[in-house]
Amino acid sequence: MIDLGVNIDHVATLRQARRTYEPDPVWAAAEAHLGGADAITVHLREDRRHIIDRDVQLLRASVQVKLNLEMAATEEMIGIACQLKPEMVTLVPEGRHEVTTEGGLDVAGQKSRLGDVVHQLQDAGIYVSLFIDADLRQVEAAAQVRAQACEIHTGPYAHAFHDSGRDIASAPAQAELAKIANAGAAIIERGMRFNAGHALNYHNVQHVAGLAGVSELHIGHAIVSRAVFVGLREAVREMKRLMREAVPAS
Ligand code: PXP
Repeated sequence: MIDLGVNIDHVATLRQARRTYEPDPVWAAAEAHLGGADAITVHLREDRRHIIDRDVQLLRASVQVKLNLEMAATEEMIGIACQLKPEMVTLVPEGRHEVTTEGGLDVAGQKSRLGDVVHQLQDAGIYVSLFIDADLRQVEAAAQVRAQACEIHTGPYAHAFHDSGRDIASAPAQAELAKIANAGAAIIERGMRFNAGHALNYHNVQHVAGLAGVSELHIGHAIVSRAVFVGLREAVREMKRLMREAVPAS
C-alpha cells in the first residue's frame, strides 16, 4: 500500500517569517500523524531558512512515524544525521538561491563521494534515499552507490500537467509521466524502493500514486497550503484518501 510522507517545512517558513515561536512544526507533525501521515519529512537547510536545529531534535524525540530528514551531502549535515538517527535520509542538491529544490542529485557525476556518504549514513543505521530526476543514468548510479531508495523528482510532470490544462491525456503530461514510470521500473528492478515527490498536489497526485510499484510520496506545499483553510489533519486525510483511491496505471 502506498505511503504518504508529509513535508512540514512550510509551517516553519511561516514561523521564520516573524522569527517567532509559532506555528510550531512539532505541533504540525502531530497533526499530520493524526491525519494519517506515514512519515514526517523535514529539510534542514544549510541556511536554516525554515527548519532549525531545535526542530529536528524535538521531532526526533516526539515523532511516532518514520522521520525522513532531507539534507545536502555536506560534512555538517552528515554529522547531524549520524547523531540524530532519523529512520531515513533523503539526499538532495541544495542551492542557496533556490526557492525550493530545483532538480535531482547528479549521482552519476559524483559516484565516489556519494558512495562514501551513503555508506557513512548506512553505518549509522540510517536508510538512504536519493532524490533524482527521472533519468535511467541516475537510477543506475544510485544502485551503484548502494542507495536503498530513489525519490523521483515529479516537478516536470506536475508542471506539464498544469500547463496542459490538467489534461492527463496531453502529450507533454503523458511523456513526463512515462519517464517517471520507466525510472520507477528501473529502480525496482535494481532492488531499490521507488519513492516520488515534488510539486504533487490534489489535482495531479493520483496519476503518480497509480504507477506500478510506487512506495511512498513526499508532499509538502500543497498540503500545508490547503491546511490554511481546512486544517492540517484534514488536508493530510484528503491527500491520503486520493492516493489510496488512485486507479493503478494499466
Ligand atoms: N521531495 C523533496 C526531495 C523535496 O525537496 C521537496 C521540497 O522540499 C518535496 C519532496 C516536497 O515538495 P512540495 O513541497 O512541492 O510538495
